[in-house]
Amino acid sequence: MKNLYLIALASALLTLCAPVFAESPDIIIELPAAGSVSTEEGFKAWGRAYEVTSHTRCANCHVGPSEWPMWSGQAYGKTRVHGMNVMAGESRIGAETIQCSTCHAYREGTNDIPHAAPQVAMNWQLVPIEADWFGKSSREICTQLRDPARNGGRTMIELAEHLNHDLILHWAWNPGGAREPAPYSLQEHIDDLLVCGIAGFPCATD
Ligand code: HEC
Ligand code: HEC
Repeated sequence: MKNLYLIALASALLTLCAPVFAESPDIIIELPAAGSVSTEEGFKAWGRAYEVTSHTRCANCHVGPSEWPMWSGQAYGKTRVHGMNVMAGESRIGAETIQCSTCHAYREGTNDIPHAAPQVAMNWQLVPIEADWFGKSSREICTQLRDPARNGGRTMIELAEHLNHDLILHWAWNPGGAREPAPYSLQEHIDDLLVCGIAGFPCATD
């Protein structure tokens, strides 16, 4: 009986977790050969990566100590905090008030209705405080992202893999509902990060 319960629990968990990660077979993660990339090229690649990380599709969730997700970008008109008094709280998932997943649950299909809540993954939530990108400079985001103490303990390759694993990222390049997609493509963004990485991840004023 207990075993049956455990099996049921495990399969329920698997179903819950399944939509959260989706590796795309089309994405190639290939680190350039060591020494093949100049610092100059590394800087250029970071310039493009900064256009992505500072884009509203990313920055609206990459908010620091503030508990408010942001509504910004062309589709919103003016920049403001999330409506309906939604706050992420210390939990970053709104556990203290109303959970993000109440409205942002995973749903199959595209998010093509303007102003409907994006329904992309069950783990829709604000980032840990240290991954604060909203309104931050190129140098600030660059130094945060290359620092394993502040990027979730990730190496360059692990960052690239994270980008491919997470459904939210795939959505950001194909958001639907009149939202502007993040610039370049997921593949180009991953390539740029790997180029930065192999060039020693140079940040401005190093
Ligand atoms: C729905 C909110 C949300 C959106 C939108 C979002 N992220 Fe994140 N992101 C997160 C959360 C939550 C984490 C922490 C999860 C983890 O570390 O495993 C995270 C972590 C990351 C990390 C790991 C390194 C770090 O500094 O923590 C990278 C890289 C990243 N996001 C890139 C992006 C990019 C690029 C975009 C836009 C194309 C984006 N994210 C959009 C929520 C979001
Ligand atoms: C009561 C429903 C509701 C809850 C709860 C909710 N949201 Fe939203 N959220 C929405 C709606 C609706 C939109 C789209 C608004 C629009 O496009 O005008 C939205 C949009 C967003 C956006 C902007 C996405 C983009 O790039 O366009 C972010 C970021 C966001 N929510 C984060 C969160 C986080 C984090 C939580 C939990 C702390 C949360 N939301 C809880 C309804 C909700």
